[in-house]
Amino acid sequence: MRHTKVKDLLNSTTTLQEINAKGWVRTFRNNQFIALNDGSTINNIQCVVDFENTPEETLKRITTSAAVSVTGDLVESKGAGQKYEIQVKRIEILGDSDAEKFPIQPKKHSLEFLRENAHLRVRTNAFGAIMRVRSVLSFAVHQYFQEKGFVYVNTPIITGTDAEGAGEMFKVTTLPSENAPKNEEGNVDFKQDFFGKETCLTVSGQLVAETYAMALGQVYTFGPTFRAENSNTSRHLAEFWMIEPEVAFNDLTDNMDLAEDFIKYVVKYAVDHCGDDLKFLEGRLTEEEKSKPQAERSEMPLLEKLGFVIENNFKRVSYTEAIDILRDSTPNKKKKFNYIINEWGADLQSEHERYLVEKHFKCPVILFDYPANIKAFYMRLNEDGKTVRAMDILFPGIGEIVGGSQREERFDVLVEKMRVLGIDEEELWWYLDTRRFGSAVHSGFGLGFERLVLFVTGMTNIRDVIPFPRTPGSAEF
Ligand code: 4AD
Ligand code: MG
Repeated sequence: MRHTKVKDLLNSTTTLQEINAKGWVRTFRNNQFIALNDGSTINNIQCVVDFENTPEETLKRITTSAAVSVTGDLVESKGAGQKYEIQVKRIEILGDSDAEKFPIQPKKHSLEFLRENAHLRVRTNAFGAIMRVRSVLSFAVHQYFQEKGFVYVNTPIITGTDAEGAGEMFKVTTLPSENAPKNEEGNVDFKQDFFGKETCLTVSGQLVAETYAMALGQVYTFGPTFRAENSNTSRHLAEFWMIEPEVAFNDLTDNMDLAEDFIKYVVKYAVDHCGDDLKFLEGRLTEEEKSKPQAERSEMPLLEKLGFVIENNFKRVSYTEAIDILRDSTPNKKKKFNYIINEWGADLQSEHERYLVEKHFKCPVILFDYPANIKAFYMRLNEDGKTVRAMDILFPGIGEIVGGSQREERFDVLVEKMRVLGIDEEELWWYLDTRRFGSAVHSGFGLGFERLVLFVTGMTNIRDVIPFPRTPGSAEF
């Protein structure tokens, strides 16, 4: 018999005879009421077991997280809070679960404990909701760009290029390493290894996406990227997903417009399509807020915060203006920043970014025209000779969610910049070809997908919005 998804049963417009549902037991009360969840929705369906006519042996096997199949009628529920329930006629235990040993008990567990059980945490309401929201957001990303005629490009994961020039890459070698060709010092000889050169996992698909934008006009990537930066923070992963649009003939203002429109679209899409999950996450957050000191509580409930971002313009501020604001500011009456900015040219720390967004402007901020020497080599130099057409989008509670720029389209200026930074021209011969043959103004940006999911779900640690997080010292599962 084909089973019906719990979501469809709960959304039914009539009672139904002889339906079958399959899922996992969340709770079993009074030897009679199963709360059944199948992952299709945050909501459980109540299944009422005819305990008098069900063998004692079977009743004993209805335990938390057991997989069961129930057959019966969908009837109106007398209980509060739900329209329908299943009057069970037959129940089959598909897979037993030893309730004593099952790590996730029906009580509140810490997020740290749940991270250690990342393969089972998805059976909780919160993680079910987060992962459904994540999935809907990735669909929205594709829908947005596809509706606008962008071409989805799959850029390579194994690469010889450090696209950001930050030296934070994971090396790729063949295994078993004892068989890999060695040089005189006993290290892997990459010239003789699989690819004939040293290769790494990509930190960004941008440079190759640029070559495609210069033929297809508007392209985007959406794939995993890897960074070996040793930042053990709640905002950094060693493996994260990035969305990188790249558009020919767009300047920095067009780039800002695109990024703002894109973010608003995907956030709205989640609000429109994940109502139950977001309401649940908002409730969870409200509970959490109550346990915090007043000063640290967020001012807006989750859905209001999302609505605010959808409806209001992001504030666009140049780096120079931002520095002036930060120089004159004291985050609270007693304390200055940990890192005080005195000089124009200093890089902003996350405390500064969050001050600008959360305390000063109280809305998402697009910072642009950064000093050239704190940004990547490929950014378009401004006429002042010292700033580049870079933009970072800063979000409340998150900090940097987007990094992007107008690209240096002038061959000579780009080559000179690479020379100053010691970037090998021969390594990037193919990249320079875009500037040799039909170069044009073009721009793009990268949005860290997990930071977006953090914002939309209201979670505070990036390890909780990706199924199996990779961070320094941790690559379980
Ligand atoms: O600012 P980033 O380094 O920019 C680039 O990689 C450009 N190539 C993008 C482009 O112009 N096509 O990274 C872009 C975004 C950041 O704003 C942040 O949201 C996210 O990627 N990000 C990370 N997310 C999680 N963990 C990390 N370690 C991240 N590093 C960057
Ligand atoms: Mg950045």
